[in-house]
Amino acid sequence: MKKGEKIVFGIIALLVLITVVNFTVLESVRHNSDKPMYPILTHFDFSVDGLRGYQLYQQSNCYSCHRAVGNGTSMGLSLDGLGSKHDVNYFYSFLKQPEQTYGAKTMDHGAPPKDAAYVSALPDPDLRVMAIFLSELKADQGSSSSFEPPKGESSFINAMLDMWAPDGWRSQYKDIRDWMKSNPQEGQHDGKH
Ligand code: HEC
Repeated sequence: MKKGEKIVFGIIALLVLITVVNFTVLESVRHNSDKPMYPILTHFDFSVDGLRGYQLYQQSNCYSCHRAVGNGTSMGLSLDGLGSKHDVNYFYSFLKQPEQTYGAKTMDHGAPPKDAAYVSALPDPDLRVMAIFLSELKADQGSSSSFEPPKGESSFINAMLDMWAPDGWRSQYKDIRDWMKSNPQEGQHDGKH
């Protein structure tokens, strides 16, 4: 081997070694820790119909593109917590008529040849119970699918607001944190305000 080749292969070998060591350390910390690495900010408490909807969701291959209840692929959209953003009518309408409901161009849901076109052709009663299941995937305060920011003052959020929010927004929009301060008893409000 020439000297240059030795250096290149040496660097590659070093990078591979660092990656393997990093991965091993991370996984062993994760396995041995009794706390989850990231806080879990979604929850579900299924009704009888919701549970049946979950079974249909599993049978209908949704998890080949989605994540829900901590299972499924990470490639697609996570559905956990989405029930705090939309209600059961929205979900039914999205499953049945995705393109008219979504409010943006859809990639997979919609008319053939889109990959999830089969969804809107599923039996109507199935779509209805799957919509119930989806509406019961709730978000806790501070989760990315919740309208409510994390509890307590956040200097990060304040700094982001100062940096990015146009001046007009302060008079045009209300800060949800002010609303939460004056209505502490209402707690989770599922975006109804
Ligand atoms: C081929 C991949 C694929 C399959 C299969 C699939 N989805 Fe989706 N789903 C997506 C994508 C991508 C989006 C984002 C919207 C879009 O671009 O179509 C989405 C969005 C959604 C949303 C979010 C709507 C919103 O407004 O945020 C729900 C709910 C949903 N899917 C439910 C389901 C259910 C239930 C099934 C099974 C019956 C399913 N999906 C099967 C790819 C898929």
